[in-house]
Amino acid sequence: MDELRIGTPLTANATRVMLLGSGELGKEVIIALQRLGVEVIAVDRYDNAPGHQVAHRAHTVDMTDPQALLAVIESERPHYVVPEIEAIATDALAVAEERGLATVIPTARATQLTMNREGIRRLVAEELELPTSPYAFADSLEEVREAAERIGYPCVIKPVVSSSGKGQSTVRSADDLVAAWDYAMSGGRVNRGRVIVEGFIDFDYEITQLTVRAVGADGTVQTFFCEPIGHLQESGDYIESWQPQPMSDRALARSREISEKVTSALGGRGVFGVELFVKGDDVYFSEVSPRPHDTGLVTLRTQRFSEFELHARAVLGLPVDTALTSPGASAVIYGRLDEAGIAFDGVADALRVPETDIRLFGKPESFARRRMGVAVSTGPDIDVARERARTAAAAVRPVSG
Ligand SMILES: Nc1ncnc2c1ncn2[C@@H]1O[C@H](COP(=O)(O)OP(=O)(O)OP(=O)(O)O)[C@@H](O)[C@H]1O
Ligand SMILES: [Mg+2]
Repeated sequence: MDELRIGTPLTANATRVMLLGSGELGKEVIIALQRLGVEVIAVDRYDNAPGHQVAHRAHTVDMTDPQALLAVIESERPHYVVPEIEAIATDALAVAEERGLATVIPTARATQLTMNREGIRRLVAEELELPTSPYAFADSLEEVREAAERIGYPCVIKPVVSSSGKGQSTVRSADDLVAAWDYAMSGGRVNRGRVIVEGFIDFDYEITQLTVRAVGADGTVQTFFCEPIGHLQESGDYIESWQPQPMSDRALARSREISEKVTSALGGRGVFGVELFVKGDDVYFSEVSPRPHDTGLVTLRTQRFSEFELHARAVLGLPVDTALTSPGASAVIYGRLDEAGIAFDGVADALRVPETDIRLFGKPESFARRRMGVAVSTGPDIDVARERARTAAAAVRPVSG
């Protein structure tokens, strides 16, 4: 790669990056890019999204519409297109990449494979032959029944295209199958009528292995690992995360081996969040985000460079440093209210907790279960840090505007 040159924003030589999806994770990536003197264009499906508020330009576009997506890329001609969400017309990204309109991060193929559980599962389990839960795909209630009988109970039924636990249920017996199928059909983001039936892994803990593909000292793309992140999930959403998750040497080595293989197969540059289930020394691949991961919000305080700064650097072809600087934890601040324009009390109380910071994302509309902010704390160990983050998150009280 040629030596990287960064231009001046808003001039002809600007280095331009377009974020597709400008939520709380995109907002942090945008801020990291802004600090490096990059011109940033934020795209989301609604006005005044968190990232819209900190970018040079903002567009509101239905990103599931391939024409609309290509049109905004053509009008802005960014050097890099950085998807922040799954729900986009990834075929349009493939066209943009083919036509040489922009470099898609990490690659258009990686975004296509990971937005559909079938694509990534077949790649990882069947081509790379890495361990996953047992699984089958089903297109009807009858096929779900057959798959569940074969795989056994409990099993987990998920629409092939969905995230944040939408349409997903754990089924304990054949009696629950109809409800699980109906829920999957109503909850899938794009209703393709196809589900994955996964055997339930009775894991000891689950981790996100943040894995960075970035240009190394020798000028080629290399793989770098952050310390493992442990997390707690509730109805498909993460509520707490911490770093580093204590692991046996063997489980950690295995996690990194799997992460290296999966991310190399996806290719390109950037941060990946590899989701893994750990039982004893055994590690099972679950899924992967070809972008920063929500559980990685903890890295805003625990690493020399957060996952967002690492993503910005990796995208631009710059060196990365994944060092942990302190154990830490994050706890989610929910909206608790269903209304637009809410306010937050208790911020000062939250910030009186030692070694603690918060982010309020600035989302224009709150829902009871919408993530509106996060508390991030460090401490001498993860237990103290978790207690601090939980205390701070609980201190922030959403109130009617
Ligand atoms: N096969 C399984 N065995 C045990 N637990 C599972 C299994 N599949 C999913 N889970 C649990 O449900 C959570 C969410 O599953 P998954 O990551 O597949 O869904 P998702 O909708 O993509 O969620 P997100 O978008 O938040 O990552 C997992 O983090 C894990 O806690
Ligand atoms: Mg997940």
